[in-house]
Amino acid sequence: MNSTKIREKFLKFFETKGHKIVTSSSLIPAEDPTLLFTNAGMNQFKDIFLGSETRSYNRATSMQKCVRAGGKHNDLDQVGFTPKHLTFFEMMGNFSFGDYFKKEAIEFAWEFLTKEMKIDAKRLVVSIYETDDDAFDIWTKQIGIPEEKMFRLGKADNFWQMGDTGPCGPCSEIHIDYGIKCNDPNCNPSCDCGRYLEIWNLVFMQFNRSVSGKLTPLTKTGIDTGMGFERLSMIMQDKKSIFETDMFTAIINKTEQLTSKSYAKSDDKTKAAFHVLADHVRSSSLLISDGCTPSNEGRGYVLRKIIRRAALFAQKLSNDNKLFAQLSQEFINTMSPIFPELKTAETLILKLLQNEIDRFSVNLITGQSILEKFMSNNKKSKMLSGEQVFKLYDTYGFPPELTRLIAQEKNFDVDMKGFEVEMKKQQEQSGKKKTTEAIDFEIPQEIETEFVGYDELENKSKITFVKKVLDPRSESRMTQGLKKGTSSPESNFAWIVTEQTPFYVESGGQEGDSGFITINKKTFTVLELKKINKAVAVKIRIEKEDKIKVGDIAHCAIDHYYRINTSKNHTATHLLQAALVQVVGGQIKQAGSLVNDKHLRFDFNHHEGLSKDQSKETFNVIEKIEQLVNQKIQENIKLKTFNTTLEKAKDSGVTAIFGEKYNPENVRVVQIPGFSAELCGGTHLQSTGEIGVFKIISESALSTGVRRILAVTGPEALKLFQQNFRTTKTLSEQFKSKPGEVLQAVARQQKQLEESLRQIKQLKKQSLRSQIPNWIKQIETINNVPFLFLELEDLTNPELKEICVELENKQPGFFFAISKKQSEDQFNFVGYLSKKAKKTIDLKKLSIHLRNNYGIKGGGNPILIQGGSTNYSNKIK
Ligand code: SER
Repeated sequence: MNSTKIREKFLKFFETKGHKIVTSSSLIPAEDPTLLFTNAGMNQFKDIFLGSETRSYNRATSMQKCVRAGGKHNDLDQVGFTPKHLTFFEMMGNFSFGDYFKKEAIEFAWEFLTKEMKIDAKRLVVSIYETDDDAFDIWTKQIGIPEEKMFRLGKADNFWQMGDTGPCGPCSEIHIDYGIKCNDPNCNPSCDCGRYLEIWNLVFMQFNRSVSGKLTPLTKTGIDTGMGFERLSMIMQDKKSIFETDMFTAIINKTEQLTSKSYAKSDDKTKAAFHVLADHVRSSSLLISDGCTPSNEGRGYVLRKIIRRAALFAQKLSNDNKLFAQLSQEFINTMSPIFPELKTAETLILKLLQNEIDRFSVNLITGQSILEKFMSNNKKSKMLSGEQVFKLYDTYGFPPELTRLIAQEKNFDVDMKGFEVEMKKQQEQSGKKKTTEAIDFEIPQEIETEFVGYDELENKSKITFVKKVLDPRSESRMTQGLKKGTSSPESNFAWIVTEQTPFYVESGGQEGDSGFITINKKTFTVLELKKINKAVAVKIRIEKEDKIKVGDIAHCAIDHYYRINTSKNHTATHLLQAALVQVVGGQIKQAGSLVNDKHLRFDFNHHEGLSKDQSKETFNVIEKIEQLVNQKIQENIKLKTFNTTLEKAKDSGVTAIFGEKYNPENVRVVQIPGFSAELCGGTHLQSTGEIGVFKIISESALSTGVRRILAVTGPEALKLFQQNFRTTKTLSEQFKSKPGEVLQAVARQQKQLEESLRQIKQLKKQSLRSQIPNWIKQIETINNVPFLFLELEDLTNPELKEICVELENKQPGFFFAISKKQSEDQFNFVGYLSKKAKKTIDLKKLSIHLRNNYGIKGGGNPILIQGGSTNYSNKIK
C-alpha cells in the first residue's frame, strides 16, 4: 500500500469513529518553553489534557509533523545507522479529551491495524506498563492476545511523558515481531536486537508532572496515541528499512543521480550517508519553512547541528558542496503538495542551507585534520579530552556530537563531561549567566483578572489579592525598635491583583503598559506587570504603614500617552507586515517583533537585504514599503477586531505568527479591511490615520536569513524629520546651497579638498627636495661611513625612503630618517644604507638593538630597515 493511501485511510478511519481531523501544527511549538520542537501529535492538545483549554470536540485525529533532534526525545545520533530512526517524521494519532479511555483506544488501534491495514495479528505483540492490569485484561480478554505475547515493562519503556513536565501516563505499545533469533533469553520489545519494531504507542493520559517531579492526577483522563507514519509504511510495503519506502524514493534516486553512486550496491557506511542526507534534508527544510533559522542557540543550534552533520556525511558521497541544497530542491518539488509551506519558503530554504554548508565547509576540512592530530596524540588513551572537543567546537564549529561521531569511527571515545566543564567556563567568562527574576509566592488558580483595556483606559475594581514584600531592614526595625536610617531608602513593595484591569501585560511583542493605581486616596506608580496563572499582578512601591487589603477598591489608570504611542507602533507593525508581503513576497514570515511607545522592531525571515531591489525596478524596496504603509495611513482605514475560530480565521487568509499560542476555538483577529488581517491580542488604534506617519530607520541582517526592520511613527517620526530637516538646513547654509542640492555641494567640496591635499603633497615634496643640498652639507663621517640623522614631520615611510634614496644617490653612506606624527606621540623611521657600506654596518643588529633598548619595532633587509614606535620620547637620541 503506498503512503498516500495509508495517510488517507488513517484519517478517514478515525473520522468515521467520530474524530475531528485537525491539521498538523508547526514544528515550532506554540509558546511552550518546555519544548524545543514539536515532538508528538499531542503537543498542540497539551492544554486540553491539562484542563486549561476546551474545544468543541472531544475526539481528534491528526498527522503531526515532528522533529526529534533535541530535548527529551532526541534521535539525532542514531539517524543513518538504523533502519527505523528519523529526525523528522509524521506521527499519526487519535486523541480523546475526557471521552473514551483505554478500552476504545485499544479496540480502535487493533481494528485499524488488523482490519484496515490487514496486518496479520500473529505478527503483533503488545507491551504495557508493569502494573497496568486494566490494559492487560483488555488486551488478553477482549482482544484475545495470548498472554505470551504480552510484556509488562517499566517506566523507561511504558510510561510516556512529553518533557520533564506536563501531561503523562502509562502506555501500551504495539510492536511487530520479526521473529529474529536473539541470544538474550529475556528478549522483549525493549531489546535492540531487531526482533521487535514499535509501531504504535497508546498513552493513557492520567497525570501532570510538575517541575519538582510530582504527579498530579488530571481532572479528566485522556487518550493520546502516536504511530510513526514512515514505520507503518515500511511494514505495509514490506521493506526492511524506512529509507526503502516510497517516501524516500525520490530523494535517494536524486542522490544517486547527483553522486553517480548506487544506493543498492553501497556498503553500510555509504548507505548511512544516503540515509543521513535523506532524513536531514527533510527535517532542515521543514524547520526552515516553519520559521527556524540556524544560529548558536536553542532551536537554531539544533538546526545548525543537523545541517553540519549532513555536511559531514555529504563529503562521503561527493565533493560538490551544492549536493545538500540540490536534494532540498528535490524534496520541495516532490513534497510541496503535502507541505505547501515548502514552496512558499523555497528561496529561503535553499539559500540558508547553501549558506550554512558553505560557511562550514572550510572548517570541516581543517577541523577534521586537527581531529586526526588529536587522535594521533592520544593514541594510548583512545580518548579525546574535554579541552580538545571544546577547541573543535569553539574554533571550527564542530558540535561535540559531530566530533564524537568521527572519533567513534576510529574507536575513540570523547570526554563529554569535560566538554561541558569547558563550555561552562567560557559562559562564565563571557558573563552569560541566566538571570531569572523569581517570584516566590503563588496566586491561587481561582483568582482571575478580566482585561478591560481594549475599551477602557481606566477602571475601578476590587482588589482580590495582595502580597507585600517588605525590605528586611524594615522588618528588623519593627522587631528591634530601630529608627529609620538615612543611608538608603527602604524598598517595600506590594503585588496587587484586581478583578478587572485596563493594564496590558507584555505579550505578543507589545511591551506592557505604564500607569498608576490609586488605593485609599494614595496614588502609586505601576512598576511592573506580570501575568501569573490567570491573574494580572501589579507591582507598586509602598510605605510599610500603607494599609492595602483584599476588598479595597483600586482605581487603575493607564498612561494614555504611552499607550497611544505603543498602539500607533502596533497598528503600524501590522501595516508593515502586509506591505512586506505585498512588495517582497508571500514567503515573508515574522520571526520576532517588539512594540513600545518609541519604536517598532520587526524581524522576518528573508534571504537577502531589502535594498537589493528584487523587482529590478529603479527605486528602493524600502521606500516602496514606506510609501505603501503611509498610503494606508492616509486612507485612514477603520480597524475591525473580532473573535472567531482558528480554522475560520486561517481559511480567510488571516496571518498567524509561528510560536504564538492560540486557542483554536477562540482567536482574536485584528483586521485593517482590504489590507491586513492578523491574529493578535495587542492594543490597536481605531483607524490607521492616527499613526500620523511611518518611517523605516534601518533594515539590517540579524543573522543569516533573518532581517530586522526598525521604524518609528507619530511623534518619534516627527522628531526624526525635524532633526534631519535641521541638519540639512544647517548644511545648506554652511555650504551655501539649496537644501535639495546639499549632496552635490558636499561632493563638490570633497573633490576640491582632495585636489588641495594633492597640491599640498606636491609642494611638500618640492620643499623637501629643495632641502637636499642643505642636508648633504650636514653629513658627518663616522667610522669612515658618511652618516646623516634626519628628524622630520608627518611623512610616511615610503616618503622617508624616497629622501634617503636621493641622499644616497648624491653621496653613498648611511641615512636614518625619522618622522613624527604631528600632535601624537608616534613616529616612524627608515634606515638606508648604500650597498658599499653593507659590510661595515649590520642593519639586522641595529634593528635588534633598537627593539631591545628603545622598544622600537622594525625590520627589513641588509640595506633597508623600517618601522616605528608609539612612544616618541623613546626615540633614538
Ligand atoms: N505521545 C506519545 C508518543 O509520542 C503517543 O502519541 O509516543
